Amino acid sequence: TTKTKVECDKEMEELIKTLPQHSCRWLQGTTILYKYQDFWCLQDLLKGTISAQQSFKARPNDVFLCSFPKSGTTWLKALVFAIITRENFAKSMSPLLTTLPHDCIPSLGRTNLEQIQQYQNKSCFTTPISTHLPHHFLPESILTSNCKIVYIYRNMKDVIVSFYHFARGISKLSMEDAPFEEAFDEFYHEISYFGQYLDHILGYWKASLERPEMFHFVKYEDMKNNPTNNVKKLAEFVGHPFTNEEEKEGVIENIIKLCSFENLSGLEVNKSDSFKGSLPIENRLFFRKAEVGDWKNYFTDEMSEKIDKLIDEKLSGTGLVL
Ligand code: A3P
Repeated sequence: TTKTKVECDKEMEELIKTLPQHSCRWLQGTTILYKYQDFWCLQDLLKGTISAQQSFKARPNDVFLCSFPKSGTTWLKALVFAIITRENFAKSMSPLLTTLPHDCIPSLGRTNLEQIQQYQNKSCFTTPISTHLPHHFLPESILTSNCKIVYIYRNMKDVIVSFYHFARGISKLSMEDAPFEEAFDEFYHEISYFGQYLDHILGYWKASLERPEMFHFVKYEDMKNNPTNNVKKLAEFVGHPFTNEEEKEGVIENIIKLCSFENLSGLEVNKSDSFKGSLPIENRLFFRKAEVGDWKNYFTDEMSEKIDKLIDEKLSGTGLVL
């Protein structure tokens, strides 16, 4: 017999009660994390994760935009959305001008599954879906359907600083009440929303060795340094390459401008609205500074050395440079 939704929910609640809990010190207990299998996760995201694992059905046209939180997800979602929908909207009518990028593309683990299914049913070509899940947590059907995966990653020290401000913004704590040192310590000890950052990267990277043609890696800093080239490659990978004509007409530059931090962070919707997820998050928290190297304003030499050592240990031999 198949279980009803109520029964499944109840089972999940029971399971969650048995998991190790951690109340984030630097968020003064406002955020409870649960350890599920080998990583820490917020309760609401955990429910979404477990139900995605149990029942999400990927389709071959789905393209997954994967990332560790704070490594450029919002930007990647905006870019892919703009690339894919460029023929549907006149420049001044893009939904990105009135909608948070996170509300333009659903997120596996956060958006409810029925909604994702409706969205999959609606589109007959590329269907981008984002997720923060580590690679080994992806629902089986993503792998068996041979879906394409874009993975964005970023300098680890900048991710830590970005994470700190984001979490502090959600809990509305000042820097005195939530000192950076404590956030650093927890992050260093692998207590963050989706496990250890370097393991997250390594999981996707290792999987890419087996099926390189299904993976496309984007480095946040590279996208900043050379957006034209990187947006071109991204468009090719997701199956919407630019024609010569489009290149001449400046379509790539227009997409870059539309999705730029300067443009998006200044839009009314991103300044004053709230993200309609399970946690109340003000949209503006997704747009902070978008600078490369802001970590230098927060890290001590000792912190920096600790992270360098970790990167050395974990990434040596991979060719990945953070
Ligand atoms: P900072 O906190 O360093 O400013 P995510 O989207 O994965 O949550 O990551 C958020 C980080 O990306 C934040 O970094 C944010 O400012 C930056 N960001 C958001 N939109 C961006 C854009 N359009 N271009 C470049 N960076 C962007």
